[in-house]
Amino acid sequence: MLIVLNNKCNLTKDEFLSYQEKIATIDEEFVLCPSYTHLANFNLQNASLGAQNVSTTEMGAYTGEVAASQLSSFNVKYCLVGHSERRTYQHETYEETNKKIKELLKYDIIPILCVGESKEEKALNKTKDIIEKEILGAIQDLSDSEKLKLIIAYEPIWSIGTGNIPTPTEITEVLQIIKNIFPTNTLLYGGSVTEETVTTLQQCPLIDGYLLGGISLKVENLKNFLKKMTN
Ligand code: PGA
Repeated sequence: MLIVLNNKCNLTKDEFLSYQEKIATIDEEFVLCPSYTHLANFNLQNASLGAQNVSTTEMGAYTGEVAASQLSSFNVKYCLVGHSERRTYQHETYEETNKKIKELLKYDIIPILCVGESKEEKALNKTKDIIEKEILGAIQDLSDSEKLKLIIAYEPIWSIGTGNIPTPTEITEVLQIIKNIFPTNTLLYGGSVTEETVTTLQQCPLIDGYLLGGISLKVENLKNFLKKMTN
């Protein structure tokens, strides 16, 4: 199981350092995606480093951006792309997600491509169309060997941070759609993954791991979740 912690825009420097001490005692291996500001302070033996975002460009005169080569120089091994919060608040497009994936692959950073439908799209039975559109937009012009390097995270937008998750049948249907495009890639589920929802999620055989948002910051809950998951 691949466990990816997405801290989102949280933790000051001191908070991050004490958080890091606490998660250093976790037995399972995981990927930690802190804010950019904490990448240089990453110091865990039980985790790999991930980033939450990357520039669409190489280094240069792009104020405020962080390039894949810079992430790589901090030993970043994974990077989220296409997260719905970036699509919503930063209006990130499929084309930009595609450019980011290409930049990351140049520096051997594994892109974790997030896809998922909104509540309205689900109600209109558009989930399959949306998932396929998001994926095909993001992987345009990638070679077959490049496609193999991606990790895909199914994150229904209506589930993120709400406590609601799809049924195991619904999750399996969507992961099967993704598997038709990426037969051998690692597939994650994200969206309200908690100690409470893990039992339901464990009924989904196609889930290879989890992308954790809110619970990543609550260390005791996180540890309980991991205990339940490994039992
Ligand atoms: P959540 O967020 O676990 O708080 O629902 C998941 C995510 O946005 O990656």
